[in-house]
Amino acid sequence: MIITIDGPAGSGKSTMARRLAKRLGFGFLNTGAMYRAVTLYMLRGGVKVSEKEKIHSLLPKITLEFSGESILLNGEDVTLAIRSQEVEKYVSAVSALREVRERLVELQRGIATEGDYVLEGRDTGTVVFPDAFCKFYLDASVEERARRRQKELEAKGEYHDLEYLKREIERRDELDSTREIAPLVKPPDAVVIDTTGLSPEEVEERLYHEVMKRRGLL
Ligand code: DC
Repeated sequence: MIITIDGPAGSGKSTMARRLAKRLGFGFLNTGAMYRAVTLYMLRGGVKVSEKEKIHSLLPKITLEFSGESILLNGEDVTLAIRSQEVEKYVSAVSALREVRERLVELQRGIATEGDYVLEGRDTGTVVFPDAFCKFYLDASVEERARRRQKELEAKGEYHDLEYLKREIERRDELDSTREIAPLVKPPDAVVIDTTGLSPEEVEERLYHEVMKRRGLL
């Protein structure tokens, strides 16, 4: 059984997908982490986003695996490295490339069809699994999403101005929703939840309730 959670940066998708998967006993697939890992690989190799041929030829050299909560890029644990501001800056551009998306969507389908999964990302309910059993779309105001990002960075010892973070989020929203291939859109059959002002527990309850209702277990 496949459950998808899509939405913009900072809408709470990762937290919610992780919690829901745990509660249901499903696997959890963070597709954003895969786009981030490919971005890190390209940055490390000094490859520019405009060098499409080169990116295409490098893709087969990349292996991605998940080990619990960690993501391994060619065997190296890059869970922390993919959260850097540099990756943050370039990931939207890299994830807009057709070759990158085709390769990652193929990998995502391969992983998730092995069992019951909660997937989260930007296109998991529209492109990766358009026939998913249950689709969610999470959203929140830009202010709230910037505050969440600020807290997350503070926990890592980094301080960033709220206005700067708001602008960064708006920039990423714009790139993710206007790109040509698989832009961020609400799947027409998704349950939309605005998480502004809601606690993680409250959102989790809504998601869990919806899934159980559809399974005929409530
Ligand atoms: O969810 P995140 O912030 O970790 O995602 C990082 C970037 O990856 C996001 O800006 C767009 C891209 N992405 C995507 O294009 N498609 C997905 N399914 C997931 C993420």
